[in-house]
Amino acid sequence: MAFDIDMIKGLYSNMAERVDKAREIVGRPLTLSEKILYSHLWDGNPTKEFKRGKDYVDFAPDRIACQDATAQMALLQFMQAGKPKVAVPTTVHCDHLIQAKSGAAADLKVANSTSAEVFDFLESVSNKYGIGFWKPGAGIIHQVVLENYAFPGGMMIGTDSHTVNAGGLGMVAIGVGGADAVDVMAGMAWELKFPKLIGVKLTGNISGWTSSKDVILKVAGILTVKGGTGAIIEYFGDGAKNLSCTGKGTICNMGAEVGATTSTFGYDESMERYLRATDRSDIADAANAVKEHLTADPEVYANPEKYFDELIEINLDELRPHLNGPFTPDLATPVGELGVKARENGWPIKVDWGLIGSCTNSSYEDLTRAASIAKQAVDKKIKAKSDFGINPGSEQIRFTAERDGLLQIFENLGATVFTNACGPCIGQWDRSDLKGDEKNTIVHSFNRNFSKRADGNPNTHAFVGSPEMVAAIAISGRLDFNPMTDTLLNENGEEVKLDEPLGIELPPLGFDVEDAGYLAPNEDGSSVVVKVDPKSERLQLLEPFTPLTPESLQGVKLLIKAFGKCTTDHISMAGPWLRYRGHLDNIANNTLIGAVNAYNKKTNFVKNQLTGEYVGVPDAQRAYKAAGIKTIVVGDHNYGEGSSREHAAMQPRHLGVAAVLVKSFARIHETNLKKQGMLGLTFANEADYDLIQEDDTFNFVDIAAFAPDKQLTLEIVHKDGSKDTIKVNHTYNQSQIDWFNEGSALNVIKRENVS
Ligand code: F3S
Repeated sequence: MAFDIDMIKGLYSNMAERVDKAREIVGRPLTLSEKILYSHLWDGNPTKEFKRGKDYVDFAPDRIACQDATAQMALLQFMQAGKPKVAVPTTVHCDHLIQAKSGAAADLKVANSTSAEVFDFLESVSNKYGIGFWKPGAGIIHQVVLENYAFPGGMMIGTDSHTVNAGGLGMVAIGVGGADAVDVMAGMAWELKFPKLIGVKLTGNISGWTSSKDVILKVAGILTVKGGTGAIIEYFGDGAKNLSCTGKGTICNMGAEVGATTSTFGYDESMERYLRATDRSDIADAANAVKEHLTADPEVYANPEKYFDELIEINLDELRPHLNGPFTPDLATPVGELGVKARENGWPIKVDWGLIGSCTNSSYEDLTRAASIAKQAVDKKIKAKSDFGINPGSEQIRFTAERDGLLQIFENLGATVFTNACGPCIGQWDRSDLKGDEKNTIVHSFNRNFSKRADGNPNTHAFVGSPEMVAAIAISGRLDFNPMTDTLLNENGEEVKLDEPLGIELPPLGFDVEDAGYLAPNEDGSSVVVKVDPKSERLQLLEPFTPLTPESLQGVKLLIKAFGKCTTDHISMAGPWLRYRGHLDNIANNTLIGAVNAYNKKTNFVKNQLTGEYVGVPDAQRAYKAAGIKTIVVGDHNYGEGSSREHAAMQPRHLGVAAVLVKSFARIHETNLKKQGMLGLTFANEADYDLIQEDDTFNFVDIAAFAPDKQLTLEIVHKDGSKDTIKVNHTYNQSQIDWFNEGSALNVIKRENVS
């Protein structure tokens, strides 16, 4: 199940040449991030310097990981590519669809029954196409990846924003949308804007109550939730070397909370120790042989201000433990100052739950540090005031922690051990102590604490901290508790103080597991039948999209002229609709229901030109589809901003929307429209947006001559018979026009496979 060592050795042997070439081209020493990026170019050896934050570059990732919620549509699309196997090693991890309620065994049983059809589909499609499958209960995607697949100097993409966790093992690992993952699975390049670089220099040593988590909680406070956008954060300095590999993973994991493209650390002894402890000494040996390429050139770290776009310095000797929140992970407060702040803001001081684990903080070190606090509570006869929940990151961690008595320590404190899965971290938490939307406080060692994230209650104030701080706060039951200075009253009425946490980096007896929960795919999957019940409401096999012909692009009706912001959430809402992520026709019933109609400023209320009635957007669109009429969506600036969700392009396409004409696009959404064989167009003259009227019909008069760098002409016929003719711009290159002509990018791949 582990990485192919020959592949890694091959990458390492090319790395020297590619790094040398890149250094020569840019004419200066290279950061680690640049070394990894330049050694993963789709075209092989570097031939030109890329401008950070400007140039779009094609890359060749080594690996792909998908979680169960996002994998559904990605794999349904991949099936359309007509390939016998994925082109790049890929794994699927069932972790998001398991609710935390009573405890691991019972909860897993419920999930295996309620989401059986999704798990069966993912298992069979993985088996057929050469994808490694991690069963429900096997663990959380990023922990499993760190334990099994991440390696120094590698590049991976994953259909989850915390894919960045693998930076803890020196990777460039990036969260992407399903459409990008499908491209790479199908053998295409992956495009990314060459990132900017933020350097974080760590000096000193963490000690006492301060942990790796506090490094990123501090960085989040400095950078804020947007400060890392479009950048790779590269950590370095003596302080970095002193952190464990899994601690580095925690720091990289929460790089997603500052919007960073990813975060990474140079290869060092902590990574070597982790690789050997997780049975990957062959990778450690190979990495040792090329270690100068797995970190920045020495001059970079000696004079970082010259080589990074932004530089942050943190002295770990002075770093204090933090709790960040509520409602945003960048609201950083040192422990000890939170009481005043909470009283000023009316945040409940009483803490109802302490939750430990998630992909962010469930390493052996994390569990031992938290357990050392929990054990003191039992030994010193302190009764925990809050409820405790534990989500181990993987079965390997859970099994090892159970063997070593760590879980028993938490259970002695009354903790519930939930499934090795996301659970409360993604709102999969049936929280029995809540009656309604009452105001309350929880502390957790997860990464995100947006409103409703953990339990769906907008009045739950969630604070993020290290596992050991979560344990201490939960034992005290108070947000204003400072374990470094405060005492607690025990059952004998004595004042007792918690000692500093003690952690063990790696299990002294080694990791152990009986059944890791991994299913290797068939060598030859050609006879495997992919399981999708035709009556399923959650899964639907896809049909190839048919090309939009010039004839079909005459007499096109206006579906909606969207006013103001129209994000991917407005186009394809999340929330309860997530259930239908694998069923295109069902999820299409949310298409554009969040977009504001420019004519009446209402959402989901547009005119059906065929009847004159005002109806919901999907209803109007289905009426046009039934009549064989294509439609156009008109929009404002930055249309499709938000996520890279491919559903926002697939749903309109499925329902018969032919074109989206806007003042400007969010680039990823524009590309997604192109991939689905649609027309993504912008007004040549922005003021033409005002010409569009509610009853308009559109004729794409010169679409037959669609060509790169050539404007298209659009005739707009108004209700009174008058006409306007306008020019519209596009950014299609010839291969993207081929996608349009074939009906979709996947149709092109399929044709190429067949011919
Ligand atoms: Fe899962 Fe939460 Fe991580 S949802 S993947 S545990 S961020």
